[in-house]
Amino acid sequence: MDDLAYKTLEDYQRAKEQALTHPSQFWAEIATNFDWHRKWDTILEYDFHKPEVKWFLGGQLNITENCLDRHLKTQPNQTAIIFEPNDPDEVAQHFTYKELHSRVCRTANMLKAHGAKKGDRICIYMPMVPELAIAVLACARIGAIHSVVFAGFSAAALAARINDASCSMLLTADGGYRGSKVTPLKDIADKALKSCSTVRHSIVFKRTGLEVAWNPIDIWWHEAIKDVDDNCPAEVMDSEDPLFILYTSGSTGKPKGMVHSCGGYMVYTAYSFQNVFQYNKGDVYWCTADIGWITGHSYIVYGPLTVGATTLMFEGVPSYPEYDRFWEVCAKHKVNQFYTAPTAIRALQKHPVELVNKHDLSSLKVLGSVGEPINAEAWHWYDDHVGKNNCPIVDTWWQTETGGILITSLAGVTPQKPTYATLPMPGIQAVLLDNEGNELADENEGILAIKYPWPSIARTIWGDHERYKSVYFSAFPGYYFPGDGALRDADGNYRITGRVDDVVIVSGHNLGTAPIENALNEHPNVVESAVVGFPHDIKGNALHAFVIIRGTVEDANTLEAELRALVSKTIGPIAKPDYIQVVSGLPKTRSGKIMRRILRKLAAGEYDQLGDVSTLLNPEVVEEIKQNS
Ligand code: WTA
Repeated sequence: MDDLAYKTLEDYQRAKEQALTHPSQFWAEIATNFDWHRKWDTILEYDFHKPEVKWFLGGQLNITENCLDRHLKTQPNQTAIIFEPNDPDEVAQHFTYKELHSRVCRTANMLKAHGAKKGDRICIYMPMVPELAIAVLACARIGAIHSVVFAGFSAAALAARINDASCSMLLTADGGYRGSKVTPLKDIADKALKSCSTVRHSIVFKRTGLEVAWNPIDIWWHEAIKDVDDNCPAEVMDSEDPLFILYTSGSTGKPKGMVHSCGGYMVYTAYSFQNVFQYNKGDVYWCTADIGWITGHSYIVYGPLTVGATTLMFEGVPSYPEYDRFWEVCAKHKVNQFYTAPTAIRALQKHPVELVNKHDLSSLKVLGSVGEPINAEAWHWYDDHVGKNNCPIVDTWWQTETGGILITSLAGVTPQKPTYATLPMPGIQAVLLDNEGNELADENEGILAIKYPWPSIARTIWGDHERYKSVYFSAFPGYYFPGDGALRDADGNYRITGRVDDVVIVSGHNLGTAPIENALNEHPNVVESAVVGFPHDIKGNALHAFVIIRGTVEDANTLEAELRALVSKTIGPIAKPDYIQVVSGLPKTRSGKIMRRILRKLAAGEYDQLGDVSTLLNPEVVEEIKQNS
């Protein structure tokens, strides 16, 4: 699949040009690199007003044949998955493509033996063990739609997702390891299943040996898989058949089940993986995300496996047993491409750099970042200490909804610029809009939108196409609206400035909370901050800043004055927070995003409207903030 990648800037520019002049033909040419049972009749049908997007119509395929079967011919003994367990003393496992194929087929047969069939929804609530990736692929093998729920979610959150998609089966585990903690997954699943009438079988993988209760619908994985063989022909899927559902949070409480389809998703994840990371045969690639998130779906499982890569799966956390675990694992497995999130980098940056330096990181060739804007300090720390100023950094902007990376540099091929995601991938027509929906030219700042479909755009929200339309296609008719703001420099590089819904209007001035936070973070004692608006009699809205401080605060008044002066200096007096609150933590989602919705309610004193805080990473800080405000 090497020929999917542009190796030079000239190749890249030529592709960009081609994609612009013949957009659908461009994707059709890329799609010919894959194994199809039947070639498509129509490349693309779309109407962003309806909205409707269909790629490779009439085409038939099974994504697992592309991830597995076709590599059996060329590289059966190549390692497909390296599994690095939570506990460094437990031996790592290596699965060749041949072994992975066999395991996926057996697991698919296990699902079939329990009645699973094409179109069924199967919920997967598992820790980061190889069987999670295998389960995902086994569903795809038989055409069942997987819905992976991150194993940190609560029983209520799990139940809501199972019920939304009427899942007929649950795949779970007795428990999961994460650092020094053991999560009782089966126990949580049992609580969830009390309110899920559609689930007929729950297959339980034994990971921790934790004692579990047993119900009539439960079956042990190791028993269920005993009597099945490894011959499981792949179900032939239409290009537009759903491949999976993945839930993402919205501005209302109810999560949105984003639906991705088989053909387009396969083409785009493989194409983007190959290009962004410039993967070479034999390289070891590691994405530290959890398969419970889109990053894990696209860039641990489907993208890497489709191109025949070696992908590392890590069960643990960066701080266990010490804050050097990432670097230890990089050295141990001679990782070549390393892909993580800014929140992890910032957490590790707080610890002595000796923890990085004591490991041999000379295998690293490419570093990646995903999930939020990467601030300059974190970018440079990553570049200096992890990459030794020798590895390109790809800052990849995308979303659960986009299925794959849309704006990024290509490692070593296109120029990088710290804190900028840089350029749209060839085939991605990004634009900046003003509030009225006019396209902005040249160097500018505005609302990011995409004006032409790409193959891996989510096709709908499960069971709620109207919501899909209203969230993504109604604000600016004719465009896909991702909900992010961006600025563009004179060379066309994009810098994502944050969610546009985080804009607060103070005394008639539009203020992005992200730049105010950046200003606060400049203060030597500030570790992290979050700014939200709250209703104000005269100004309409005022600003409340929550700040995490390094060490102890000697004099709160001096600190506040310094912080206000800093904001005033960097942005202007109008942006000075009215209220500054020192906190020990910020409410965050399990994927590390600050839950601004909750901070807004806290700032407004609307404590009775906080909603469900149980799915947070750190629900306890909510109480603390309440007490101290
Ligand atoms: C944000 C994660 C700045 C953005 C793949 C987007 C980013 C949301 C970046 C999607 C980046 C993601 N720079 N912001 N490189 N990558 N975001 O669905 O606000 O978990 O809309 O997908 O994360 O988050 P999601």
